[in-house]
Amino acid sequence: MSSDYAIQIEDIAKCFRVYKRPIDRVRQCMLGDRRKLYKEVWALKGVTFKVSQGEAVGIIGRNGSGKSTLLEIITDTMKETAGTVIINGKVAALLELGAGLIRSSRGARMCLQMRQSWGSLMKSYNNGWMQS
Ligand SMILES: Nc1ncnc2c1ncn2[C@@H]1O[C@H](COP(=O)(O)OP(=O)(O)O)[C@@H](O)[C@H]1O
Ligand SMILES: [Mg+2]
Repeated sequence: MSSDYAIQIEDIAKCFRVYKRPIDRVRQCMLGDRRKLYKEVWALKGVTFKVSQGEAVGIIGRNGSGKSTLLEIITDTMKETAGTVIINGKVAALLELGAGLIRSSRGARMCLQMRQSWGSLMKSYNNGWMQS
């Protein structure tokens, strides 16, 4: 995998363990692999894509299709169950603490303002479509 890419996602999967009762989570720790007290919910399976440096990509899908899960994995707030995630550079979630939400601004304008306040860290986002 080359570093011309900002994001490289290779065959990732995410499985959530859903327990009926919170106490089952503790019981599962004691049981180990002997018995499953949880239901498996696969939010993502076999997701593969690459995003080049400077490329803008949108993720669309129905409710529950795994968009938020995918973004949480990319921003490293959640660990994938399987697969490979390679991030080349700094990742920032627009609604993260510190970025702030500017009600009167559109997404592209907010990105621009964030870029300005971070200076050289965000230089790689200096593309034409952001200027308009
Ligand atoms: N913390 C969680 N525990 C269990 N299931 C979850 C959890 N988060 C998401 N899911 C499930 O994973 C699937 C994908 O959810 P999500 O990534 O939120 O989709 P989207 O953002 O596209 O609406 C859904 O079936 C959802 O119910
Ligand atoms: Mg979502």
